[in-house]
Amino acid sequence: MTKHTVPTRMQMAPSLPGPHEGYMPGFGNDYETEALPGALPQGMNSPQTCNYGLYGEQLSGTAFTAPSHQNERTWCYRIRPSVKHSHRYEKIDVPFWKSAPNVDPDVTSLGQYRWDPVPHTDEKLTWVTGMRTMTTAGDVNTQVGMASHIYLVTESMEDDYFFSADSELLVVPQEGVLRFSTELGIIDLEPKEIAIIPRGLLYRVEVLEGPARGFVCENYGQKFELPGRGPIGANCMANPRDFKAPVAAYEDREVPSTVTVKWCGQFHKTNIGQSPLDVVAWHGNYAPVKYDLRTYCPVGAILFDHPDPSIFTVLTAPSGQPGTANIDFVLFRERWMVAEDTFRPPWYHKNIMSELMGNIYGQYDAKPKGFIPGGMSLHNMMLPHGPDKNAFEGASNADLKAEKLDNTMSFMFETRFPQHLTTFAADEAPLQDDYIDCWSDIEKKFDGTPGKK
Ligand SMILES: [Fe+2]
Repeated sequence: MTKHTVPTRMQMAPSLPGPHEGYMPGFGNDYETEALPGALPQGMNSPQTCNYGLYGEQLSGTAFTAPSHQNERTWCYRIRPSVKHSHRYEKIDVPFWKSAPNVDPDVTSLGQYRWDPVPHTDEKLTWVTGMRTMTTAGDVNTQVGMASHIYLVTESMEDDYFFSADSELLVVPQEGVLRFSTELGIIDLEPKEIAIIPRGLLYRVEVLEGPARGFVCENYGQKFELPGRGPIGANCMANPRDFKAPVAAYEDREVPSTVTVKWCGQFHKTNIGQSPLDVVAWHGNYAPVKYDLRTYCPVGAILFDHPDPSIFTVLTAPSGQPGTANIDFVLFRERWMVAEDTFRPPWYHKNIMSELMGNIYGQYDAKPKGFIPGGMSLHNMMLPHGPDKNAFEGASNADLKAEKLDNTMSFMFETRFPQHLTTFAADEAPLQDDYIDCWSDIEKKFDGTPGKK
């Protein structure tokens, strides 16, 4: 018997996923799980000897002295200590995965940009070699800021493992199904789900259905957490129970293997003689999780006006300044529009934060055309943007009955830092040169006549 409990499925709405085997519910819970009975010490972390001859090891996700409500660590009981999975390192070249600061003097990041989906090619690409950085912000060495990536994955990693010491990764699949076999268990991930892979956690990515494409937000800073709901109260938005951490799963496999490490923006490889996924039991609150975006409960205007997009925040990664995030992950999903006497799409605006958007599926309400699934857009710090003419005219003249925005799921990685385009984003990715022209036919209507529309 395992220590983790999987809730009994009793009743659920037909379109919503239920609890399922292999995962434990909760966000930042004090999870405990063991793949072999009695592998997890009880009542203490570091017994003189561990059952099965396992080694006890702590993985610290925050400083030892971080405030209690933020302190995260996990105790692992493993076949070998991690130091056996880390030998001499040699630098390797991973040319398309960039880290901040990465400013190409020949690239202009000041602008409004939009891209079509980055296409697959015949090239065989893994999770590491298939990462294509689009933007970077902040500085990886001082642990502030982020990078946004597109991944194009066709091949499973075989006896090859990876971890990032620089960052936690927020993974947003758009196409294909991936398996993240991690030290702490297995996460299968498909479109409409997201996963958070913590800093320092070793894993291997396999393709269950390919080719796979998606978006990654690489967070150099403080971890993602659930935003405070304020007066909204104890429910709605992203609810903690809908996050799922994997149960323990281990490999006892002695084969020549490699571990690739991203460390201070550079990549290194080390050779080892076994699978490093050898954690038989663990407990703690520093763990990978996945989350089904269909369980996000949006809250919005129910009489008039259009709230700030922060109302749709799923996760926030704080910076040192309260309320000014290193990164917000914001979701624009299906919802009802009911506001009266209101221009319902996003309004025109300029924002001190930098907004990178991606389309998971469907059509986005501020841009009926051109922002397609797999595509991205960037509205950088203090660059004006808003609805195109079609969206403006349509919303200004619409019959304002209750309307369901259906078949739509887009997201935003919003950061307090300006985002710099990589050379790949500027020169190789399918940039829409005419994007800025979507506002060119907006008319001047004003002629001094009161009541004119
Ligand atoms: Fe915006």
